[in-house]
Amino acid sequence: MKDNNQRFASWQSPSNIALVKYWGKKGQQLPANPSISFTLDNALTHTQIEAIQTENQSQVSIDFYFENAKNPAFESKILAYLEIAKSEFNWLANHKLIIYSKNTFPHSSGIASSASAFSALALCLCDLHEQIIGVSLPNFFEKASYWARIGSGSACRSIYGGFNLWGHSNNITNSSDLHAINIDEQIHQNFKTLTDTILIVEKGKKSVSSTQGHALLKEHPFAKLRYELADANTHQLLSILKNGDIKAFIGLVESEALMLHALMMTSPTPFILMKPNTVAVLEKIWEFRNQTDLNLLFTLDAGANVHLISTAEHNEQVQNFVKNELVGYCQNGLYFRNATGQGPKNIKNA
Ligand code: DP6
Repeated sequence: MKDNNQRFASWQSPSNIALVKYWGKKGQQLPANPSISFTLDNALTHTQIEAIQTENQSQVSIDFYFENAKNPAFESKILAYLEIAKSEFNWLANHKLIIYSKNTFPHSSGIASSASAFSALALCLCDLHEQIIGVSLPNFFEKASYWARIGSGSACRSIYGGFNLWGHSNNITNSSDLHAINIDEQIHQNFKTLTDTILIVEKGKKSVSSTQGHALLKEHPFAKLRYELADANTHQLLSILKNGDIKAFIGLVESEALMLHALMMTSPTPFILMKPNTVAVLEKIWEFRNQTDLNLLFTLDAGANVHLISTAEHNEQVQNFVKNELVGYCQNGLYFRNATGQGPKNIKNA
């Protein structure tokens, strides 16, 4: 049992994969266009925080351990984030945080997910806030989504399971730039059992980070058109998700992924994150789909790895396809499978 000067929170939070992409920001970490994602079940960050009461301190104080080792690079990123978060969580001025974080991603897959990391961290902060201030937050998850967003935009969509939308758009009720909303009530049965097999084409650090990529949109000649198309695609995808049209889903999601990478290649300082094996995998997926007419498709995030999405009824054929035809393009044969996830879990008492 902890005494009152020592509080404890522990949350496990998943990553998510965007179908309409967030690419470009405005203001304080606000999206230039709305985006839609679904939550994964097997790419998780587990974060636990002990908050120990101290004298008032001018700067936030933490000890940060990632996978049981001190990690100065992550520690300074988290410190900068907590200095901003202090405006809401003012008890950060008189508590030291001991933070332990670890991922369930396959060992040395090279995947570092800021989405799962910042959603787990924001949930812990909201949890500690309730304990230290002694009141329940009326919109606990909305607040967590808001603060996850400040850490990393896409993280705000990891606060809920299933399908989530982030970013204001006219005629989408409750849509907001400040936090994500869950849209599960509008999802057709056809999309309730999506799986995402992540094919690790390259596990190294990316040459250009997402944050740098977003910044390049500021001077991008296609930015205005992109934001209009992304907004239109959001509306279009919402109606596809409602009416269950899988073929339309495939067309829209693949086009979003390719547009994201086309934006990188055509930015004022151009860059390419796809690798030759990324392109080879995409071609294999097209070829296999043409031959079999199965419901499978790809998407890409800001990196070389391919997300192979399919509906659960084709699981066996898709997994055989991966083993027989795609694994050779993966670094060290590495890939891992996710289903649609239920969202974060409070594991304090687990
Ligand atoms: C291509 O959320 O990683 O995955 O807000 O700077 O942390 P920051 O960027 P981040 O960008 C994600 C970009 C994306 C698309 C998406 O997830 O919507």
